[in-house]
Amino acid sequence: MREPNEKFGQPGAEIDEELERIEIELLLQGLYRWCGYDYRGYAYSSIRRRVWHRVHAESLPSISALQAKVLHDAACLGRLLADFSINVTEMFRDPAFFLCFRENVVPLLRTYPSIRIWHAGCSTGEEVYSMAILLQEEGLYDKARIYATDINPDVLSAAKAGEFPLGSMRTYTSNYQRAGGKNAFSDYYLAAHDKVIFHPSLSRNIVFAQHNLVTDGSINEFHVILCRNVMIYFNKALQEKVLELFYQSLGMLGFIGLGDKETIAYTSRSDCYAAVGPDQRLYRKIK
Ligand SMILES: C[S@@+](CC[C@H](N)C(=O)[O-])C[C@H]1O[C@@H](n2cnc3c(N)ncnc32)[C@H](O)[C@@H]1O
Repeated sequence: MREPNEKFGQPGAEIDEELERIEIELLLQGLYRWCGYDYRGYAYSSIRRRVWHRVHAESLPSISALQAKVLHDAACLGRLLADFSINVTEMFRDPAFFLCFRENVVPLLRTYPSIRIWHAGCSTGEEVYSMAILLQEEGLYDKARIYATDINPDVLSAAKAGEFPLGSMRTYTSNYQRAGGKNAFSDYYLAAHDKVIFHPSLSRNIVFAQHNLVTDGSINEFHVILCRNVMIYFNKALQEKVLELFYQSLGMLGFIGLGDKETIAYTSRSDCYAAVGPDQRLYRKIK
């Protein structure tokens, strides 16, 4: 079996790269037509890496062989979709972002009669429970409704359970404190063996639902949308499409938060938002 880029820099390398691209495009096209999951606008280098990982893991000779297998073997299809889903997350990830939210957005949310928040691409829920804790400490939780969505039903099931590894609590406690946390972080959970269970009162205003940012439409009009560390896996055209969905889903003067490697700058909607606070990927819709 030829490895990707084995002949890079030698005569024929361009042909191999072209052939590889054709095989990957056919695989993604087949996936889309077969099961409706559309990965055609994801960043090519990341998809390519994951496709080759699956080819090797299944001991297959080529990407075309993987295409045949995923179309006829539901278990293999599930494994490939799991490879495409990158679920890395943390509670109070990038604490400065949550501190900026607490200092700059919370005072304005206090003036609203009710608050609708959308966490798009919420993974296993750490970001959502972080927001729930922050809103509770600021006295805003009771009037908030949090919609937490992801493409992947398995991570949503984990998120609903509100259980996280005990071993992560040291990092999460430090993040919480740096994010301006007001209590002892351990007040929010009970430890049970190797995991912790967050207090059920934190999830009473959270709705978890499957939603695909690529193929599904808007689900409501929101005051706040957080979509952090998701669009980094999309190509430019898909980023534009999803930012347009968020623009249409955000009320005037609403807030949008992105991951620290993502930006509204240089997009077709850049002049519709103003940065909130210094140095954070937090913006307010101004037109
Ligand atoms: C790296 S995690 C980010 C989790 C969290 N927002 C954070 O910043 O810690 C990316 C999440 O985006 C989800 N995702 C990827 N493509 C998606 C899509 N088309 N629609 C909705 N969610 C998607 C993945 O399943 C994954 O759970």
